[in-house]
Order: sequence, then C-alpha cells, then structure tokens
Amino acid sequence: MSLRGAVARLTSLFVWRSLGHTAAKLHGFALAEQGSAIDLSMAAQLAGDPERAAMYLQHAMDESRHAVMFARRAAELQSKRGMPSYGAPRADVDHLYGMLGEIAFLAFVHRGERRARTQFEVYQRYFEAHGDAKTASIFARVLDDERQHERYTHALLVRLSGGEAEAARALRASVRWELKRTWLRHGRALSNHAFTLSMWLLYLVIAPFALLMRARTPRTSGWR
Ligand SMILES: [Fe+2]
Ligand SMILES: [Fe+2]
Repeated sequence: MSLRGAVARLTSLFVWRSLGHTAAKLHGFALAEQGSAIDLSMAAQLAGDPERAAMYLQHAMDESRHAVMFARRAAELQSKRGMPSYGAPRADVDHLYGMLGEIAFLAFVHRGERRARTQFEVYQRYFEAHGDAKTASIFARVLDDERQHERYTHALLVRLSGGEAEAARALRASVRWELKRTWLRHGRALSNHAFTLSMWLLYLVIAPFALLMRARTPRTSGWR
C-alpha cells in the first residue's frame, strides 16, 4: 500500500466519525469533482485537437456525474440527521489548462486521479466493512472511472511530452508546482491571522502607556 493509502486508512475512523462529518466530507468531494469537471470542459474547448477535446469532454462528464453522486449522498445523510442539505456544489475554478499549458495540466490531472483512486479504494473498503453498502457502491462506481482516467492521462502525457522520461519530469515539476501553490494558499490565510494577532498584541502593549499618559496629564476644565 502506498503512503497516501496508508494515511487514508489510518485517518478513516477520524474522517468518517459521524454522519455529519461523512456528509461534509462527501460534499467536499462533490466540490472537488465539479471543479475538475469545469477545468476539463475548459480544456476541451481550448485543446486544438478534436480527439483530445473529445477525451477531455468525456472526462468532464464523468467528473460531473461523480459530483452529482457525492452531492446526493451528502444530502441523504444530512436529511437522515434532520439537517438541511448543502445544496448543489459550487466549485471555484482555477482555469488550469490556460494557466499551465497542456502538458503541465495533464501531469496535474494525472496526479489528482492517482491520489483520488488511492484514497477511494481505502474508503470503499471502509464503508463495506462498516455496513454502509450504499456509500461503498458510490466509491466503487467512481473508482471504475478514476482508474480509467489515471490510465489515459498517463498515456496521453507520455505521448505529448515525447516519452516516459519526459512524462516523469513533467510529473516531478507538477509536484513542485502543487507544493508552491499550497504554500501560497496557506501563506495568504496565515498572513491574515498573523495581522489580526499582531494588531491585538500592539493594542495590549500600548494600553499601559495610554493609561500612564492619561494619569500624568493635568486635568483642565473650561475653555482654553
Ligand atoms: Fe472523479
Ligand atoms: Fe477522475
């Protein structure tokens, strides 16, 4: 089992610890699937080659179907616990094909597919073992597609980049790019918190001086 699979297995009990957490996680998957669907339909529009455009469009339709399956199951679990549904997923889009170019985009998508396949295999077994056949069957159906996506994106990456070695290089570059993106995203969120915290500290440091100044300033009354 890969490291990611082992982590998914270790964290399963925590990730799926209640109906509420399961619904939230499945809705999160619906958002991710819908984001991929939008990125891939943009790729289909921008790809100059009709054969690849058709592949990306088929892939986009698969991801869109996965988004619906996860969102529906999340809504069922929400209603089971008497809570409102999250509603239709509304994913943010990064316009990755236009931003990265086709080879880097394919490398990124391929890594995402491999990651999803590894995690979903663990989650399918988890739900089977915990008596939730319905959620397990959703993961099983999604997995059929993810395995195929993983295969075709790798084959296409090798073909477009010019060989196995070039494809491996593109995949390594994709790891670095994703690390940088994650760092920038977390850095932005962290800098907002750091600013709020430093302002609070500044007020706390200044407060005694302000009180001292007030105590030392002679009180005057009337017009000056
Ligand atoms: Fe998917
Ligand atoms: Fe996929």
